[in-house]
Amino acid sequence: MINKIINEEKITLGVCYYPEHWPEDLWEDDFKRMKELGFTYVRMSEFAWTIFEPKEGHFEFDLFDKAIALAGKYNLKVILGTPTATPPVWLTEKYPEVLNVSHNGVQFKHGSRRHYNYNSKKYQELSATIVTEMVTHYRDNPYVVGWQIDNELNCEISEFYAEADHMAFKNWAKEKYQSLDALNEAWGTVFWNQTYTSWDQVSLTLPTVNDTSNPHQALDEKRFFSDSTINFAKIQADIIRKLTKDQWVTTNGMFGHLDNHQLTEDIIDFYAYDSYPNFSKVIKDTSSKPLRDRKWSLNLSTVRGFGGNFAIFEQQSGPGGWVNRLEQPAPKPGQVKLWSYQSIAHGSEMVLYFRWRTATKGTEMYWHGINDYHNLPNRRIAEIETFSKEIEKVGPALYGSTYQAKVAILTDYQNSWDGEMDKWYGNFIGQSKEAWFKAFQYNHIPVDLTNINKKTTVDHLSKYDILIYPHAAILTKETAKLLTNYVEQGGKIVFGCRTGYKDLTGQPYQKAFPGYIADLVGITVSDFTLVGAYEAAPKVSLFNKDEQEALGFNEILHADNDDVEILGHFTNDYYAGEPALTKRNHGKGTAYYFGGVFSYEIAEKILADLKPDDYSEYFDLPESVELAVRKNDEKTFFILLNYASDAQPMKLKQPMIDCLTDEEVTGSLTLTAYDVKIYSFS
Ligand code: GAL
Repeated sequence: MINKIINEEKITLGVCYYPEHWPEDLWEDDFKRMKELGFTYVRMSEFAWTIFEPKEGHFEFDLFDKAIALAGKYNLKVILGTPTATPPVWLTEKYPEVLNVSHNGVQFKHGSRRHYNYNSKKYQELSATIVTEMVTHYRDNPYVVGWQIDNELNCEISEFYAEADHMAFKNWAKEKYQSLDALNEAWGTVFWNQTYTSWDQVSLTLPTVNDTSNPHQALDEKRFFSDSTINFAKIQADIIRKLTKDQWVTTNGMFGHLDNHQLTEDIIDFYAYDSYPNFSKVIKDTSSKPLRDRKWSLNLSTVRGFGGNFAIFEQQSGPGGWVNRLEQPAPKPGQVKLWSYQSIAHGSEMVLYFRWRTATKGTEMYWHGINDYHNLPNRRIAEIETFSKEIEKVGPALYGSTYQAKVAILTDYQNSWDGEMDKWYGNFIGQSKEAWFKAFQYNHIPVDLTNINKKTTVDHLSKYDILIYPHAAILTKETAKLLTNYVEQGGKIVFGCRTGYKDLTGQPYQKAFPGYIADLVGITVSDFTLVGAYEAAPKVSLFNKDEQEALGFNEILHADNDDVEILGHFTNDYYAGEPALTKRNHGKGTAYYFGGVFSYEIAEKILADLKPDDYSEYFDLPESVELAVRKNDEKTFFILLNYASDAQPMKLKQPMIDCLTDEEVTGSLTLTAYDVKIYSFS
């Protein structure tokens, strides 16, 4: 979809630039050097509200007019950000009701960003005004090609408890439930005497003793935060669409409490993402065989699930850190190029680096850009120059091709939001997702992250041979039917513990676990236990092989049908010898149920039994190499990304063309540290 909208003929590069941070006499040289680097795009203005509107109702465009004209002089296309992530001081001073408030009632003040709330009518009105003024001014500018709404909606904070949010939630709940009886039922308010007797009493969750809010209300609250965010984005998107002809609309994400699938489908033209593979939390991974920067491919796969191919609006180009700390090591030589290819391998059609030059002021003076403060040549610039030349060569052919996967991990917002408060099981979702992703990565099997919701059809799911749906606590009768149809038609599906015990309000069913999918898997859970942190890890033996730790939670499974195969047992504790993993053929397909949380080791074992299609007839690859496949009507591209810091041997079992050199290659080859290869058949 994106390739039709942005109207390019190749994968393009660009950079984020903040002219307001630099003396004007640097601008021309900056744009000139961007062009020399082969850049097509420059993104600007997403934090510059006060420059555009220094006083309420008084608008000035001089600074950006000049910067955009200069960018145009060097044939750069400009993407403008609406500046609503950082309201001006005059605005929050005059209208404090626009400020966001924490759950415990503290109002956020000026000094950082994202300190506003989405439901303030005043903020909506002032945002609409600045967006209208900017769009009217730039809609006919020949260099301005598209708009980014706000910046990273819900980044930093994705909870909103200002007065306006409480009021809007009341109306949202009224609309959803129509009657107080229905609301009381859905929120289970009979428990601890929370019954509402008037709509005036209804609000978002409030500070409570022990910080334990009503869980069903808390789940609705997240749905409401998402709706509020989308509504705020829609106000801006509607203005842009009404006033412009050819300029496109997007926003960059992805953060909490936001249904990005709905946002992409209903509001924007395509999704843009900010890719920082060296993000501290990611690289500090202490699990067995950590993926580290390669784990970012899980995020990129999730983003691809929102609406297919996408854009990268911020690609990491240096070490990161904030205010008082440098948090990340510098990308090693080759890593910026590797990460740029990682984005492209997963479906990006455009890569914009963050940022042109490291800021010499403010919170992000340690979040490094391509250029250092001093502006002198450095190895990051040299590396991007090389990459740019490579993209010049392969960018046209790769453009518009799409990522190919025959297996998918299913995700859904209801469970991830419910599991935020109900985190003892909620954490299992992330753990199992990562374990499976790692197993697919190390086996060189491309995988999608696919969202399942009320609109999902069996046709949508049947393009996958295998689905992994680890811990869908909330699972309705309709979803069970959909998944059963998928299996009947030949699909294979894998479930984990705590599946199917809750309805959409987050209330448990009075049914044997795993609820509505019990017939599909042919088992019920006869007993279960949380594994206490102080206990010796229980073990399972799967496929009669060596034992693995079954951490987190154990369910003892009972086969209700003769055709259920028992593939694994617990080997210790009071449930030693009891079934832990089952498999049942159903129609043309197969359903697996594991009574535990998946570790990488356990996922590996089950994966061997699932026998997914792979690319082993073409390649013999070391573990450190990710294989991604992009395909168009003419060609299939195999993209090999080596995340190791040393050279790695590999084998090409059939002759292929190296798309970067046009040479035919085959047999034993070597990938250098952080090397990337793109192969296709001639
Ligand atoms: C992104 C954000 C940028 C900048 C960058 C580095 O999340 O969109 O504005 O803050 O991170 O911290």
